[in-house]
Order: sequence, then C-alpha cells, then structure tokens
Amino acid sequence: MDKKELINSGKVKSVFATDKDDEVIIEFRDDMTAGDGERKEVMNDKGAYNAVISAKIFKVLDENGIATQFVDLIEPNVMLAKKLEMIPIEVIVRNIATGSLVRKYPLEDGTKLEPPILQMDFKADEYHDPMLNDSIIKSLGIATQEEIDILTEEALKINEILIEFFEDAGIILVDFKVEFGKDVNGNILLGDEISPDSCRLWDSKTLDMLDKELFRKGKDDEVMDAYIEVYNRILTDEEKVI
Ligand code: CDP
Repeated sequence: MDKKELINSGKVKSVFATDKDDEVIIEFRDDMTAGDGERKEVMNDKGAYNAVISAKIFKVLDENGIATQFVDLIEPNVMLAKKLEMIPIEVIVRNIATGSLVRKYPLEDGTKLEPPILQMDFKADEYHDPMLNDSIIKSLGIATQEEIDILTEEALKINEILIEFFEDAGIILVDFKVEFGKDVNGNILLGDEISPDSCRLWDSKTLDMLDKELFRKGKDDEVMDAYIEVYNRILTDEEKVI
C-alpha cells in the first residue's frame, strides 16, 4: 500500500492518504507530549511500541465484537486503517479513582469504582478538553443522542474486554480514553489508539505505573522501560516485531 499525501498531523501520529478512498496509513511517531501539547520530548521507538500494542488491542477487540478501524500493521510503527471522520469526543472510562477525579471530588486515591465512571471530554486543546454532558454535546452539534448511546455502550464493552485482557498480563486497567469516528459508510468505528499513552496501567502486584503518567510526573527516564514491559507482557513471541 503506497503512502500518499499527508492528511493530518496530530501531536503523536501522522495520517496519510492511500490508493484507496476508504483507507489511510497512520504513522506513530516517537513524540511524547503532555499538558495539551505544551511539553514535548522524543522517546526512542515509542511510536513502534505504541503501534504494535494498539494493533494487538484492536485485534483482541475485533475478535470480541468491537468494530475498529484496524486493517493491518504494515511496519512496526505504521498501521493501515479505515478512513474515519473523527468525532471530537474523548470517551474516558475509569475503574479506579485517581488523578483529577480525586482532586475534584471526595474520592480517595485508589478507590474501586463500581460501576465504572464514564466521562466524555471535548477534544479541543485550545479549550483544555472540557468535560461534556449530553446536552452540551447536542448543542455543539458533535453527536446525536443515538450516537452518544453507541459511544457509551461501546466504551463500556471495551472496558469489560480490556479489564480481563490486562488482568491476564498482571496489569490493572485503572482508566483509559478512546475516540471514535465514522467510516465512509457512516458506521461508527473505534479509532485513534489504545496504548500506554491513552491508559493508566498499574502492575497488579506492585501497583507501579506502566504508562504515560510517568512522563506527566517528569519521570522521563522510566517511560520507555514501562512501555516495553507492557509490550513484553501482552504480546506473544511471534507478535514481537520490534
Ligand atoms: O484522570 P485525570 O482527569 O487526571 O486525567 P485525564 O486526562 O482525564 O485521564 C484519564 C485517562 O484518559 C488516562 O488514562 C489518560 O491517559 C487518558 N487520556 C488520554 O489518553 N488523552 C487525553 N487527551 C486525555 C486523557
């Protein structure tokens, strides 16, 4: 599949057109950002680790009935995917209270959230991704009630599948963010990525962080070891292409 013109360059991924109208090539770069893109560093091979981890997770989700954009991993850091018109909503699912949740609400850090909390944020760095609700979403015209219901149902199903998937790897899925988009036929598919950039992952035994939170906390030298640990735990030897 030939890479054609650049369609979109995000904070950590670049999207290119292909020969096919309904497929794109997504290149995962080695950039790492925090604070709405205010802090930026380059981490060796981070793009490849996130692409391989995302590809594996998309495959697991596909096998469990979730419609995703994933088509193929064509190089360790390059994914072939269905072309999507992204819905600017970050759907966040939380199984354990931490981060802003414990700063804003009377919840103790580490509290198990049963049922999980589902939150939707507006994907807009210039507004610092404010939290949405159904009526704000509809006023902004970014999704209908029917679409909000689909995003909710899909995100909660993804949570169920991934809690078990990570548990088998000795990892607690604390929380994560997903994004959805519409393919050329108008179907809503899971897009973007699911990786240690977009999840909080804790080691089940030690509760050590294995995700981007390390970078947010300035522990830059520990980030890649954590990502590689997740990679080693969730991929089989044949799937380890880095
Ligand atoms: O939990 P807190 O409000 O402190 O932070 P958050 O940014 O809402 O993060 C919740 C979860 O969503 C974490 O797993 C983040 O890694 C993820 N997230 C993300 O991947 N991208 C964003 N732009 C925002 C959150």
